Amino acid sequence: MSLLGIVLFLPLAAGLNFTYHHTNEVEGFLKMMRRNYPSITHLYSIGKSVRGRDLWVLAVGRFPTQHKIGIPEFKYVANMHGDETIGREMLLHLIDLLVTHDQQDPNITRLIDNTRIHIMPSMNPDGFEAVKGFACEPEVGRNNANKVDLNRNFPDAFSKNNITIQPETQAIMNWIKNEIFVLSANLHGGSVVASYPFDNGNAATIVDDYISKTIDDDIFVHLAKTYSKNHATMHNGTPCENGNYFQDGITNGNEWYNLKGGMQDFNYIWGQCFEITLELSCCKYPPENELSAFWMDNKVALVEYIKQVHLGIKGRVINMRGEPLPGVIVETTDRRHICPYRTRQNGEYYLLLLPGEYTLNVTVPERITQLYTITIPNGVENFSAMKYDIVVSATPVRTTLPSCPTEPLYSRDYLPSVSTILKPTVHSLLLINILCACLKNSC
Ligand SMILES: *[C@@H]1O[C@H](CO)[C@@H](O)[C@H](O)[C@H]1NC(C)=O
Ligand SMILES: *[C@@H]1O[C@H](CO)[C@@H](O)[C@H](O)[C@H]1NC(C)=O
Ligand SMILES: *[C@@H]1O[C@H](CO)[C@@H](O)[C@H](O)[C@H]1NC(C)=O
Ligand SMILES: *[C@@H]1O[C@H](CO)[C@@H](O)[C@H](O)[C@H]1NC(C)=O
Ligand SMILES: *[C@@H]1O[C@H](CO)[C@@H](O)[C@H](O)[C@H]1NC(C)=O
Ligand SMILES: [Zn+2]
Repeated sequence: MSLLGIVLFLPLAAGLNFTYHHTNEVEGFLKMMRRNYPSITHLYSIGKSVRGRDLWVLAVGRFPTQHKIGIPEFKYVANMHGDETIGREMLLHLIDLLVTHDQQDPNITRLIDNTRIHIMPSMNPDGFEAVKGFACEPEVGRNNANKVDLNRNFPDAFSKNNITIQPETQAIMNWIKNEIFVLSANLHGGSVVASYPFDNGNAATIVDDYISKTIDDDIFVHLAKTYSKNHATMHNGTPCENGNYFQDGITNGNEWYNLKGGMQDFNYIWGQCFEITLELSCCKYPPENELSAFWMDNKVALVEYIKQVHLGIKGRVINMRGEPLPGVIVETTDRRHICPYRTRQNGEYYLLLLPGEYTLNVTVPERITQLYTITIPNGVENFSAMKYDIVVSATPVRTTLPSCPTEPLYSRDYLPSVSTILKPTVHSLLLINILCACLKNSC
């Protein structure tokens, strides 16, 4: 494995200890990174928690302060459940690895050249500070200060979920709207598995065994396996105590257990951003002396996963005068999304696709459709998706985009929900038990 080379032969960066870092220490560390590596880091806050703590993000990239055309935006978000703490520390160590290996390791250097990597160690600092101390199943700290589970607090495309959007959730929603995120992961604890969308679904998406499939299932399976196979043990699928066995260390979210208002479905449906959920530890808040082992288990996987942002195809849609066109739908004919994926600011589009042949459908709504046959190589090796700019002869009628979908999908064409499809067979009773077990110490 390529990164193992770095791990074994380059000196480890001194400075960041294998201890838990509380809010002030995280702030101190991020500010120090910003000071020590000013040319490749940018520190910003996307908002505040209920208790007024900043939601810090450190961006790492060759142009850290701004989006550059052709450079995809990637994000990691950890600790949205305040008592699930491993991801929080892993991201601090990841920052340390990236900045200290820039210009030292050619692969990390190219990754930083070609990617803008946004790292949020904690989405729920209030929850983290509320936890009383190490415990596998802490009694408090999962929710935010208003006692709301943030991973049930997003709009849901498949169900009416009566939510009051929390400040932490709103900050993430604004962030997703304002950046052009292409790929993301959301770091949790309570199991060891890579889980991918959908977490919820309807009769149109749920196939055998409660798998709720996206049209991009092949890509999501690839993304989840990229993490599990580069992780020291996840790919073995070894269950935690009283937990599930996961083939290859991956699972479809809904197949594991159904949830409404999750962050990964929101990113994929409304944010044009592929997100998976990484469960990194059986014990949610393990003792400090285990942190260095967790880092050894995860560091290669964390970097290999970022590289996947370079799968597929990217480019700009412009008109005959060379002006960029936002709002143009760019998708392949075999994968039309619930909310069509459209060009953003600068007329840019990014489509994650595995290598192969596709028909690209470039549609200016109500005006024109242009189809292109394309062969997509493996861009990950090159740290760049295939570049493909498109000239169209029509201008979009509207400049403001409809928010989509405006209604939960089931109310448009009624489809039974998961629970009504369940038949009381031995199999489904078993599943209900697993589901309840999982919800009780939900992940
Ligand atoms: C960089 O990545 C390539 C391809 O994965 C690998 O062959 C090479 O050994 C890596 N270099 C280092 C220094 O890790
Ligand atoms: C790490 O721990 C050592 C020894 O306790 C301490 O001297 C050092 O300041 C710590 N480093 C950081 C960044 O906290
Ligand atoms: C939604 O939740 C609010 C606050 O919990 C409650 O007052 C309201 O009745 C709920 N509405 C529906 C339709 O369930
Ligand atoms: C191309 O995309 C548009 C907009 O989503 C759709 O209406 C049209 O049917 C698509 N055409 C093909 C050939 O897939
Ligand atoms: C990688 O980039 C080089 C130079 O731009 C190009 O010739 C080659 O075809 C690319 N390979 C892939 C797999 O995209
Ligand atoms: Zn969680």
